[in-house]
Amino acid sequence: MDAATPIAVRRHAACQDLLAHARTLLAPAGATPDVLTQLRDGLVALASDHADLFPLSDFKMPDAQGVNHMLDDAANDGLGLYLTIALPGKEAAPHDHGIWCVNAAVSGAELQRFYRLAPQSSGQQKPEIEEIGRVIVEPGVGMVMADHDIHSTDVLGDQPFVGLAMYGYAITKFPAVVWYHTQFDEVRACASRRPVEVRAQ
Ligand SMILES: [Fe+2]
Repeated sequence: MDAATPIAVRRHAACQDLLAHARTLLAPAGATPDVLTQLRDGLVALASDHADLFPLSDFKMPDAQGVNHMLDDAANDGLGLYLTIALPGKEAAPHDHGIWCVNAAVSGAELQRFYRLAPQSSGQQKPEIEEIGRVIVEPGVGMVMADHDIHSTDVLGDQPFVGLAMYGYAITKFPAVVWYHTQFDEVRACASRRPVEVRAQ
C-alpha cells in the first residue's frame, strides 16, 4: 500500500492493524495497566505519525459541541475506535464510563482532569470527588483510563480538538455512565446500553 492508495483505504487498514494488535495485547489478561499503556502509545503513534490519514475533509464537523465518528464499523467484538471532534469550549463534567479508554490527539488540545471518590464520602448516596491529576492531550501526548476511573474534559484554545479514542466497548454498548455534577450536589447515572445478559458493569 503506497501513497497512491486512497486515504480512506489506508486509514481503514491502519485502524484494522491497530485493533488487531489491541486484541492480541488484551487476549491474555485483559485491560491491565501495562496493556492500557501500550494501547495508549499505539494510538498516540497512529494519531501523531499518521495524522495525514485523518483529514477533516473526510469527517463531518459537529453542528455543536462534539461528534464521534466510528472508524471501524466491522469490529462488533467489543472494542470501539473513534475519531472525535470537539469544538472550542466543549466541556464534559466529571463522569465514569464504567469501561476503560485511551485517547490521543490528531490536532488541538484537550484538558483531561482525573478524580477519585473522596474517601470520607464513599458509600454515601451522593459521593464527593476530588481531583488527583490532569493531562493535556495534544499531538504526541495521550491519556489512559481504567474501568471506573472518573474524568472531565475541556477543549483548550480556539481550534477544534481532533482526537482518536479507543474504548473497551463501542459507545452504543456502553455500561451506565455516572455523572458527578458537584456544583449542583448531584450524581446521576444514565441507563446502561449493555445487553441485559452481559450487563456485568
Ligand atoms: Fe468520558
